[in-house]
Amino acid sequence: MNITDYITGTVIKGLGNGHKFGFPTANVEPDMPVMLEKGAYAAWVRYDGKRHKGMLYVGTRPTLDLRELIYEIHIIDAKPNLYGKRIAFKPVYKIAEEKRFKNETELVNALCKYKEKVKHILSPFYSHHFTVTKTHLKDIMEIIGQAKRRMKEQGLDQWQDGYPGEAAILNDIKHKQGHFFIKKLEPAAYAAIVFDKDPYYEKIDGRWLSDGEPYVVVHRLAVADEFLGLDLAKHILKFAERKARAKGVRWFRIDTHHDNLPMRNLIRDFGFTLCGVVRVRDGKRMAYEKRVPEK
Ligand SMILES: Cc1cc2nc3c(=O)[nH]c(=O)nc-3n(C[C@H](O)[C@H](O)[C@H](O)COP(=O)(O)O)c2cc1C
Repeated sequence: MNITDYITGTVIKGLGNGHKFGFPTANVEPDMPVMLEKGAYAAWVRYDGKRHKGMLYVGTRPTLDLRELIYEIHIIDAKPNLYGKRIAFKPVYKIAEEKRFKNETELVNALCKYKEKVKHILSPFYSHHFTVTKTHLKDIMEIIGQAKRRMKEQGLDQWQDGYPGEAAILNDIKHKQGHFFIKKLEPAAYAAIVFDKDPYYEKIDGRWLSDGEPYVVVHRLAVADEFLGLDLAKHILKFAERKARAKGVRWFRIDTHHDNLPMRNLIRDFGFTLCGVVRVRDGKRMAYEKRVPEK
């Protein structure tokens, strides 16, 4: 998740304790005030015209009983002498809260773990997901906006009436059912994975496979333009199945517009059975169901 853009500053003299620990750091004096929560971050760092992997610490070093708020960066897999140099850093993902460690050994053990995590997070193959909060609203609306634009371009009248708008997403957030899927450190897709009964599914012109049993539904699935063609939607359906299995839910329902052929193909290929037609806010939808596979 992009927390912020590059922050520029100058490397100033620190206390130099990091060398003793095997984690030398560059203490940065930012050019402008920085609004960043205390904690440890995976960060891209630029100096001498090149980009490097780094881990950033924003905090007061409570382990050493210090009070001053500092910005420290440890460069991964390089030991440059950065004192006095211009530097820019971009925190991309918060990996830990600030802690008061019992002793230096615990601090160093934690830093070793952070380092592995940062390497993993900043690798080009990294992908992960998380439950969204209000801070992600703008990014979610951007992805949904892109999906709406594509539907419009394809002449589809799905999602052309303002839905899903912020209210629907805020409701997902409130019920902890909104998920972000991250690829290459960018928000790549959004989906709501819902375990509540869907009122629109109460009446169907046709017949559901299951009858009265709990089911999971994937709603508001949207993939960012940049990440189309990577099977992300399939990945999300699989993820919903894993969640359903973990909850002991055995049925999976989904609906889509009659003319949304890419989605209908995906749904069919994913083993769903077309059960009939349901009526949602803005019209009719093809309704599908499948049994959640055992494994
Ligand atoms: C990624 C990272 C996370 C850190 N997290 C903490 C922390 O949670 N608590 C803490 O007291 N110090 C933390 N430290 C700071 C170390 O205490 C600090 O790097 C060390 O004291 C050396 O500082 P100096 O080189 O300015 O003397 C962290 C440092 C890094 C690089």
